[in-house]
Amino acid sequence: MKKNILITGGAGFIGSHVIRLFVNKYPNTNIINLDKLTYAGNLENISDIDKKDNYKFIKGDITNADFIYDLFKKYDFEGVIHLAAESHVDRSITNPNEFINTNVFGTANLLNAAKDAWKDNYSDKLFYHISTDEVYGSLGETGLFTETTAYDPRSPYSASKASSDHLVRAYRHTYGLPTVISNCSNNYGANQFPEKLIPLSINNIKNNKQIPIYGKGENIRDWLFVQDHANAIELIYRKGKAGETYNIGGNNEWTNVDLIHRLCKVMDEELGKKKGTSEKLITFVKDRAGHDLRYAIDSSKLQTELGWKPSVTFEQGIVLTVKWYLENEKWLNNIISGDYKKYYQKQYHN
Ligand code: NAD
Ligand code: TYD
Repeated sequence: MKKNILITGGAGFIGSHVIRLFVNKYPNTNIINLDKLTYAGNLENISDIDKKDNYKFIKGDITNADFIYDLFKKYDFEGVIHLAAESHVDRSITNPNEFINTNVFGTANLLNAAKDAWKDNYSDKLFYHISTDEVYGSLGETGLFTETTAYDPRSPYSASKASSDHLVRAYRHTYGLPTVISNCSNNYGANQFPEKLIPLSINNIKNNKQIPIYGKGENIRDWLFVQDHANAIELIYRKGKAGETYNIGGNNEWTNVDLIHRLCKVMDEELGKKKGTSEKLITFVKDRAGHDLRYAIDSSKLQTELGWKPSVTFEQGIVLTVKWYLENEKWLNNIISGDYKKYYQKQYHN
């Protein structure tokens, strides 16, 4: 009998890269993608693996405890890789409860179901929770987040993720559930919903619209290519030690304003425009409430203990990313028009 791995949030940005990697790398394991298909879930992200024998999509909501319990009864999961979440800080500022429901209660439902389904034998099982560096709060000009940095979340998004991380740790400590957590820095790459800084800016430049930079653009993020995050997740799933936390980051810090200048340069080159054209679209707008100044990750534990390293430089990754968005105009247009929502009906007829 084939083994089963449950991946939640596999229709989202990072989840889709993780699903593809697992489906292709483990042909003898069933990869089950559980996703509610919120505005951020897009099955077009993974249309290339839809028909693979070892892949199954299930539309469902992690906040529905009964549904999650039944799912764990129906399938004998050897592992869970939990990515499903509300993920956009700005949305968390306008609608915090949605984040608390999905990120906290949804994670609790999965933990409860795994704990009960696996209670007779925890060996060879793993509950892997995907989290963010934003749980550590905001850095000053120096220093890096390590796995032992104290939690200090400051937005409803990061507070909801921190809560879910604490629950995962508590289930490890109290019930001995085999859990692993990773906390990653900002991702960029193909298939990111165009509400986040990089794809939003690419789309705006393409359409000759203003690029909104919050405040003075001095905030710093540490950017990692999404496929390198997916590779790290696969490695940690395979080799990570139960009870451990691993930080994942690109060692690649940019102020927002410098990042956008670089992006403008690449866009001008790729669109065949005169140098300096896209930069004219930069517009400084009202700052985000409670805007964290700086995130930066020390990923040396993952590098030395498990041998992970990023496969591309930022210079390569940003060009690959821009090319992807320009070559996948239909994907972007379907999001803007809302047509990506039709994929599910077409494919699954309900
Ligand atoms: P995303 O918003 O692109 O995708 C989230 C996915 O979860 C979507 O497919 C959505 O439909 C699904 N989902 C949301 N609520 C659900 C529910 N109640 N039940 C089932 N499915 C639901 O997010 P992302 O950027 O791919 O992030 C994935 C994970 O990685 C999140 O846990 C996030 O906190 C974490 N993370 C993201 C980043 C980043 O830069 N994007 C960095 C570090 C960690
Ligand atoms: P974002 O992509 O939303 O990720 P996060 O808030 O999780 O780091 O934002 C990245 C940075 O870019 C953050 O400092 C906020 C800023 N930002 C802008 O300046 N303009 C924008 O339109 C967006 C969406 C973000």
